Amino acid sequence: MTGQLDDPRWVRLATTHFSQLTPEWEMKMEYILSDDGSYRFQAPDRLATFCATNGMRLHGHALIWFSQGVKAFAGLDQARFAAAYDHYIATVAGRYRGRVASWDVVNEAIAEDGNGLRDCHWSRALGQDGYMIRAFEQAKLADPGAVLFLNDYNLENNPRKGATFLRTVERLLRAGAPIGGIGTQSHLDIDIPAGQTAAFMRDAAAFGLPIHVSELDASLNSERRLDTRSPGQKLARQQARVTELAQAFSDLPAAQRFAFTVWGIRDTDSWLRRGERDDGRDSPLLFNAAGRPNPMFGALADGFQS
Ligand code: XIL
Repeated sequence: MTGQLDDPRWVRLATTHFSQLTPEWEMKMEYILSDDGSYRFQAPDRLATFCATNGMRLHGHALIWFSQGVKAFAGLDQARFAAAYDHYIATVAGRYRGRVASWDVVNEAIAEDGNGLRDCHWSRALGQDGYMIRAFEQAKLADPGAVLFLNDYNLENNPRKGATFLRTVERLLRAGAPIGGIGTQSHLDIDIPAGQTAAFMRDAAAFGLPIHVSELDASLNSERRLDTRSPGQKLARQQARVTELAQAFSDLPAAQRFAFTVWGIRDTDSWLRRGERDDGRDSPLLFNAAGRPNPMFGALADGFQS
């Protein structure tokens, strides 16, 4: 986020360890499009300039997301809705043409429980597959050189959702949507059974498309009602899961390893350490508050090397 660009320690970590950046919030419709239909580009422009200055790739995130743009699109008849939809994608993807390497074109389209697709204002106006196909087509027109991703979460945590996601990719490709890559957010559950993450990666690889591990973090807070494990036991689980993910990614053919992205640099930068969620000690990322590597850093390196 642009606020982090003003923090020299963040900038040093970012430019030392990373070669690609994803805006955490400021390239979303929620930032760019106001309820009155006007656009703002201040923050994403600044992030694009930061990437260009520092020789980093920029991954655009995200053009179409189920929960965003509800007010700006409310009350439009079918034709106006479709025109405003096309206009948004053409304007945003067009503005960053040549400056982004890639876009998450549609984010989180699969139903939470993995049974089918989400019902949302896009699908009601343009059809369940229709809004996605249209978004990919419009993005392709606006920026033919960008790799276009369908991105979603819990694909390894919930095998049913992973399968529905991959069937959706298959169906959209068959319908001619220019999907260029598969994005798996990987907000990892440390209690996911061993092998399940690697299994999803293998299934996803079958399309031959580039794969983006797009938002890795691994909270130490489990969903268990009673979790009596020591911090050390939980850290060990976290490391095992992260190593498995990194190894599964490394096992992909080189052409399919698009990028491996973490959702923040230091624990204190994490969205899991903000507001109500912040327990003051969760450690879901590679670096601690002081910018020193966490055990997860070694776990990731182990996975990449093996
Ligand atoms: C989160 C950001 O981290 C927050 O700063 C923001 O307020 C809400 O969104 N899946 C996604 C990301 O694709 O965009 C989300 O990021 C995390 C879940």
